[in-house]
This record gives sequence, structure tokens and C-alpha cells, in this order.
Amino acid sequence: MQQSPPTSLLSATKLSKSFGGIKAVTNASITVNHGSITGLIGPNGAGKTTLFNLLSNFIRLDRGEVIFAGQAIHHLQPHEIAQLGFIRTFQVARVLSRLSVLENMLLAKQRQTGENFFKVWFQQSKLRDEERANKQQAMDILESVGLAEKAHDYAGALSGGQRKLLEMARTLMGNPKLVLLDEPAAGVNPTLINQICEHILEWNRQGISFLIIEHNMDVIMSLCHHVWVLAEGTNLADGKPEEIQSNPQVLEAYLGD
Ligand SMILES: Nc1ncnc2c1ncn2[C@@H]1O[C@H](COP(=O)(O)OP(=O)(O)O)[C@@H](O)[C@H]1O
Ligand SMILES: [Mg+2]
Repeated sequence: MQQSPPTSLLSATKLSKSFGGIKAVTNASITVNHGSITGLIGPNGAGKTTLFNLLSNFIRLDRGEVIFAGQAIHHLQPHEIAQLGFIRTFQVARVLSRLSVLENMLLAKQRQTGENFFKVWFQQSKLRDEERANKQQAMDILESVGLAEKAHDYAGALSGGQRKLLEMARTLMGNPKLVLLDEPAAGVNPTLINQICEHILEWNRQGISFLIIEHNMDVIMSLCHHVWVLAEGTNLADGKPEEIQSNPQVLEAYLGD
């Protein structure tokens, strides 16, 4: 019997996580539809980053389940999850300052032949082809985000906003289906924020879905098809951006922030 495709690309149900006595996330659920840009908002300390860590299994769940593209992923290692096309960025961009921008891109490539010693030994020409293709892919992506002329500069020489852009560009090296972005606009100047939004929209048109944590409401309103609100570690509301914007419970949750 042929299975119908799942309606949601990501579906997390009743996730919980405590750190010692602190309940960071309690019974939180979230879904991301195929092809969507979905927002995740909430006051500081609401548990948004912890929820990202649980979805991508950087932190182990106490309870709950995470289904990605029809498959349970909460028992997989983060790199196995990334290989399925589910890739996340970090609130503080994790680029390697002492490597060049291009090297940062190439490091993000998964399942390289070069990672296996015997394959390196026996498949020299295949390896060279693969390296060439990876480099081409990296340069194409850097070109598309306006960082091509910085390819050979140290990543440490980039501005904060450019580092965020590089981190997003790196995710594309893994041919993602879903990208999780943790505060892509934080600490970024308004011009670059606009550029980042344009890139996200373009990548979305190319078929990549996004789940985005962001405090900048203009970014959320202009990008997102659907928004989830967390407060005190659990679901407060979800809906279309304009519904969320005028939801009195959401406004109240932010007043205490
Ligand atoms: N590794 C950790 N150890 C202890 N407490 C943590 C840890 N990570 C997060 N927390 C706590 O969990 C709560 C949610 O934090 P976080 O997920 O970072 O919120 P947000 O990203 O929404 O600002 C906070 O009270 C925070 O102090
Ligand atoms: Mg956070």
C-alpha cells in the first residue's frame, strides 16, 4: 500500500526538559508544514532555544517525540539528523574565525568521501571531482549571498551580521529540507537584516522550509506563514502572524519581559 506524504515536515509532540529543578520546556508541541516559513516567538527565557536543542537532539528529551519527514528522529545523533536534511544554526554564530570563509563552507559538507581513509586511498580521482564540485557549490552559494569576494578572508574578519549570513550559507551546503534559525536578525544592522530576509524568502521559493526564532517582529511578520508562541516553557498560542500580533494573551506575556 502506498503511503500518503505527511502533511507536516516536522512534528514535535509534548516535549519536556528540566535542568535540575528548572523546567525549561514542558509539554511543548510544534509543527512545521512542508514548504513553510514558521516562526517561534516568546519572551526571554521562554524555552525557545531549548526547544531547538530538543528538536535537533543537541539536548536529550525527558519526554516527547519528534517526527521529521515521516521518521522519528529523537533517537538519532545530531549529525544523522543533519544528514536527513534537518539543519540548525546557533543563537551565537558558530563560524570558525581562523579558517577562511570558503573553508568554513567546505567544512559544512557532509558525507565527504575524504572522511574515509580507504576511500581516499582508492578513489583519488573521485575525491578530486568531489572536492571540485563542493568548492563550486560553496562559491555559488557565497556568490548568491554577496560573500564571494570574502571567500579567502578569515571568517573572523567578518562583521557580526556577515557571520550570521555565513552560518546560514553553510546550512545550504547540506542540501537541507528544513533549516532552524536561532535569532538570525539579532545584532545585525537593518540593511543586512533586509538582505537576510530576502535570502530566506529566495531559499524558501527554492523549496527549503524554515523554523525561525526571532525577537524582531517586523522580520516575523514579513517572513512567516505561521507563528508559534512559547511562554514559560509551554505553548501559549499559534496562528497566522496577524492573529498572533493582536492576541491579548501574547501581548500580556511580553509585557512582563
Ligand atoms: N543548560 C541549561 N542549564 C540550566 N538551565 C538552562 C539551560 N539551558 C536553558 N536553561 C534555562 O531554561 C530556560 C529557557 O531558556 P532558553 O531556552 O534559553 O530560553 P529562550 O531561548 O526562549 O530565551 C531558562 O530559564 C534558562 O535559564
Ligand atoms: Mg534563546
